[in-house]
Amino acid sequence: MFAAQAIDISDKAAFYRGLVKQLKALLEGEHDSIANAANTAALIFQMVPDLNWAGFYFLASDEELVLGPFQGKPACVRIAVGQGVCGTAVELGTSMLIKDVHDFPGHIACDAASRSELVVLLEDEEGVFGVLDLDSPLPGRFDSADQAGIEALAAIYVAASSFQD
Ligand code: SME
Repeated sequence: MFAAQAIDISDKAAFYRGLVKQLKALLEGEHDSIANAANTAALIFQMVPDLNWAGFYFLASDEELVLGPFQGKPACVRIAVGQGVCGTAVELGTSMLIKDVHDFPGHIACDAASRSELVVLLEDEEGVFGVLDLDSPLPGRFDSADQAGIEALAAIYVAASSFQD
C-alpha cells in the first residue's frame, strides 16, 4: 500500500523534490496512462496545499481537450484549443500561471471558488497531447517554484506512462 509522506512546504523546491520522489515510487512498474493520471492527480491533490481541483485534460483531436482523471468537483468535459486557460496553454505551447483568474478573459469557471490556476503541458517526442491543471481558491497561490515543480511531476507522469492507441 502506498502511504504519502508528509513533507515540509516552507522550502518549495525541497517540497517538490520530495513529491517527485513520491510520484516516481507511486508510478514505478505501471504504464497504464489512465491509472497513472488518476494516481498523479490524487497525490497532487492530497499533498499540495490549498487546491480545490487537480487533474488532466487530454487532446481528443487537434481542436479539443477532453477531461481525464482528476480530484475535486465535477468539471467541464470539453475545452476547445484556444479557449480558457487550458486551451490557451495548448494553443500557445506553454505553461500558464494565472495569479487571478478574474483577470484572465475567457477563464472557464468549473468551480466558482477557483481564484488562481496553474496549467502545464503534457508533452512527448510527438508534441503536446494534454495538460495537467491545478486550481486554488486563493488568489496568487502559484509561483514559478510551483510551476517548475508541477512541470517536473508532469514529466514523470509522461515518462512512466504508455500512450499507444
Ligand atoms: N479553468 C479551466 C477549466 C478547467 S477547470 O479549472 C477544472 C480553464 O479555464 O481552462
